[in-house]
Amino acid sequence: MYKWLKKYNQFVIKKKLYVKCYSDDLKKCKIKTNQPGAFDDIPGPKSLPVIGTLYKYLPFIGEYSFTNLYESGRKRLKRFGPLVREEIVPNVNVIWVFRPEDIAEIFKAESGLHPERRSHLALLKYRKDRTDVYRTGGLLPTNGPEWWRLRKEFQKVTSKPQDVMNYLKETDHVIQEFVELCNNEKFEDFLPILSRLYLELTCLVVFGIRLNSFSKEERCENSKSSKLIKAAFTTNSVILKLDNGLQLWRFFETPLYRKLRKAQAYMEMVALELVSQKQRDMKSQHNKSFLNAYLENPALDIKDIVGMACDMLLAGIDTTTYSTAFALYHLAKNQDIQNKLRIETQQLLAHHNQPITADILRNAFYTKSVIKESLRLNPISVGIGRILQTDVVLNNYQVPKGTVVVTQNQIICRLPKYFNKPDSFIPERWLREHSESSNKIYRGKSIHPYILLPFGHGPRSCIARRFAEQNMQVLLLRMCQRFKISWHGDELGMISLLINKPNASLKFNFHEILETNGVYIKENDEV
Ligand code: HEM
Repeated sequence: MYKWLKKYNQFVIKKKLYVKCYSDDLKKCKIKTNQPGAFDDIPGPKSLPVIGTLYKYLPFIGEYSFTNLYESGRKRLKRFGPLVREEIVPNVNVIWVFRPEDIAEIFKAESGLHPERRSHLALLKYRKDRTDVYRTGGLLPTNGPEWWRLRKEFQKVTSKPQDVMNYLKETDHVIQEFVELCNNEKFEDFLPILSRLYLELTCLVVFGIRLNSFSKEERCENSKSSKLIKAAFTTNSVILKLDNGLQLWRFFETPLYRKLRKAQAYMEMVALELVSQKQRDMKSQHNKSFLNAYLENPALDIKDIVGMACDMLLAGIDTTTYSTAFALYHLAKNQDIQNKLRIETQQLLAHHNQPITADILRNAFYTKSVIKESLRLNPISVGIGRILQTDVVLNNYQVPKGTVVVTQNQIICRLPKYFNKPDSFIPERWLREHSESSNKIYRGKSIHPYILLPFGHGPRSCIARRFAEQNMQVLLLRMCQRFKISWHGDELGMISLLINKPNASLKFNFHEILETNGVYIKENDEV
């Protein structure tokens, strides 16, 4: 009897053990069982009642920071792996996505639907409260069919290559003026004047006007261009905090919301003024601009157009300014690469006065790869945000429809798993026709198509991508044609303010390398 009882006990213990191990295995080894894991099992930082994970963003003691999204992302990846769930405020989950395969899944799942973003929420409120000026929240914050109604009309003048090439001659002209200014003046910090250039180009193409942003009068603190640049910067720098905090601005006017409201009020005033001026001028003169096309489009009403004018002013300045700043920085820090770009410039433009044409830009392969490589290292955003439209499986976890996901391209782009020498600036990685041997050195492995997405992806991607790229290409060609660019500051990093801004002043030196008759100084004579 005793023997029998002992045997029975051993059997029960073994069975219990087997059941425990099996169910634990099921939890940990989803890949083995092929069953996607539950959403709640996605690893991530601990969320507390009421404050979620906001305590992790506290200055000095918190491990994450809204102003350093890159470092925060790297920490999450290291601690929790390639898919992280974070409840920043209770019941609002954000999924951080670090695998290109999962990024591909997210974009594939939105095909045929209206891709949605959860951003610019306070801007949406501001505009929705002002129905006398705006019909919707505008392109940036609006989702669903209303977004598509606007997008499909607005992109009619921005999506084809020819659309922006129509402005190439005037763009080149403004940039040559700017380059002349850089030759005549020294700048303690190059960023403010660069912002003026991109405001000037945005106004030229969107409104068909010259603001003369780099004239002496406009460079005063109280000028229209100074206030516009400030308003765009202020709005961009409060959006992230307003989107991700406790959103008390929904109930009363918080100091951050007040900043946004005042900045937007100024931007809106200028937009209204420019739109009504254009309406008047349309009858007498016929110049081209996006605004001309919008006003002639019967599917758009004036309130839609004012909203778009504000969006363009908001999205057009800092984005291209910061992207160009980093491209110039990398060129200044890598003189061999700058020389290669200069050689391309000299081959494409025999004389410095020669206008830049569409054909020249088409063949500026090295210039384009410099821009691409700079956007790999220093993109303006850490990744792309989406609200999932359908359930998807990411890294073998079930992620339900309606969840906010944020791809982490900036971090992936600097992982040795995907790029050889990931922190080095090597434009050759992107040259398709590069020889086999160089490919081995620079590219190493084939680059996943969803790793580098500086302008986003799909129908919701940047509406002005072609315009921004054209501006940057012309600027780099003209600057390298005229100057040897050098850097006299410390290493340049980034600070995230919705978009990634250089974290210090831009300390460039520009040494002229053209003779007075416009002929290039020979290599040996270079400064
Ligand atoms: C180098 C410069 C620029 C970069 C890197 C950039 C990047 C981006 C990115 C990442 C997005 C979000 C895409 C997505 O969600 O898939 C976006 C959207 C947008 N961008 Fe740009 N952008 C640049 C310049 C510009 C300029 C110059 C303008 C306007 C003049 C502009 C206007 C917009 C607008 C209106 C949207 C919202 C589109 C929508 O929601 O349908 N961007 N941009």
